[in-house]
Amino acid sequence: MSGQFSGILKGNLPPTDKFLYMESYGCQMNFSDSEIVASVMADLGYGVTEELEQADVVMINTCSIRENAEQKVRARLQHFRAMKRHKPTMIIGVLGCMAERLKNKLLEQEQLVDLVVGPDAYKDLPGLLEQVQGGQQAVNVLLSREETYAEIAPVRLGSNGVTAFVTIMRGCDNMCSFCVVPFTRGRERSRDPHSIYQECRELWAQGYKEVTLLGQNVDSYRWQAPAGETKGEESPTFLFADLLAYIASISPDLRVRFSTSHPKDITDEVLHTMARHDNLCKNIHLPVQSGSSKVLTRMNRTYDRPWYLERVEAIRRILPDCAITTDIIVGFCGETEEDHRETLSLMKLVRFDSAYMFAYSERPGTLAARKYPDDVPEEIKKRRLAEVMALQDQHSVERNQEEECKVHSVLIEGKSKRSDQDWCGRNSRNKMVVFPGKDVELARDFIGAKDLSPGSYVDVTVHRSTKATLMGQVVEFDAVQA
Ligand code: 5AD
Ligand code: SF4
Repeated sequence: MSGQFSGILKGNLPPTDKFLYMESYGCQMNFSDSEIVASVMADLGYGVTEELEQADVVMINTCSIRENAEQKVRARLQHFRAMKRHKPTMIIGVLGCMAERLKNKLLEQEQLVDLVVGPDAYKDLPGLLEQVQGGQQAVNVLLSREETYAEIAPVRLGSNGVTAFVTIMRGCDNMCSFCVVPFTRGRERSRDPHSIYQECRELWAQGYKEVTLLGQNVDSYRWQAPAGETKGEESPTFLFADLLAYIASISPDLRVRFSTSHPKDITDEVLHTMARHDNLCKNIHLPVQSGSSKVLTRMNRTYDRPWYLERVEAIRRILPDCAITTDIIVGFCGETEEDHRETLSLMKLVRFDSAYMFAYSERPGTLAARKYPDDVPEEIKKRRLAEVMALQDQHSVERNQEEECKVHSVLIEGKSKRSDQDWCGRNSRNKMVVFPGKDVELARDFIGAKDLSPGSYVDVTVHRSTKATLMGQVVEFDAVQA
């Protein structure tokens, strides 16, 4: 899973006199989990606050994927600890992957926190908090083979009211050798499709227009109703392509995205399903990690370079308009200059729309940490990362230039971050499109009653672009000007 961001989560809960302050780090899945935690805490009477000083409980949802992610969290924990000296009743909890990886160490050796809760134990929070309020430290890091939090209605935090994340599966069975996730999030399990459908339908009823279905490896989504529910008959297996079609059927105006796909599992059936439904957004995040088959073998990715390129070819054939984004790791154990050049050459063949790029960071306990020395010197990792990033910048610029002079259907998310004179939203390929707000006002006069506010669709002609953004004007306004 990618999308490295951190943030303070806001919520809009009923008035209360007990407050939870949350920070989330890492992947979208963690942000989605924080919404489950906020829901469990709301049942205990806690409202969400953005003011740390106001908090009775401080929770930090953590990421272990690279060492620097953990360092950031440690710095925040020291800060919370210092605050606690002035407010001893404040409870500090660590959630998520670091809770799972470090377990008692955070409580015992470092005395940094009161509460440690792993990703499968959030329903246990009421009992754990009670324990802490009774003067003890509390920990639950048990991983589950079943937990999917299917019945919990997440509290939407920091929401724009237009787009929402919906978790469809948890854990990962892949065992990529560099990755700590299978150890921190446990075995893969899929969520009941009816509960996913219900959650998406409710979001639609509340005015949301886009859902992103989340899982570490969505292509291996697999659901079979338990035998008891099918009166003894063998129930059909529900696969990811089936789920996509099911969720897309809620409304043609509900956009559906998903992340993350795995090159070994993404099927033509998924691609054909995407082609059949306009509202299945044309963007696939397909982490390649390396362009060298030798490195991919050591990474235990279970595909090689030709396989990846064949999957890209299938996407281009079946979905000619689809954006492809990726994750790349440089400097993995034993990566030679030749291997690195293969990554650059694969990038040139695919010309990704965008990429998350990382230097390899050894994670204790992973297969790679046990089996291979972390033998690429830091300076070489840095140089290779800079080369990969420079090439990707070039490709992002070119890919965005290809979007110019075309009309894009944009789902308006709100005002642009840079200027409240501008609106912004995404096209189907997940590219941010910015356009002047006055266009919207003027266009409203020309196109009558059409509502052009967050959550509505608007056609925008793109005139300019940078590596990260497309800039344009509302089509009707363009036509008036011409
Ligand atoms: N070092 C560097 N990057 C990593 N990723 C996962 N584990 C590591 C690691 N140990 C990257 C992969 C993955 C993304 C979420 O994070 O590219 O796809
Ligand atoms: Fe980690 Fe690989 Fe699973 Fe992604 S697919 S979470 S990289 S083990």
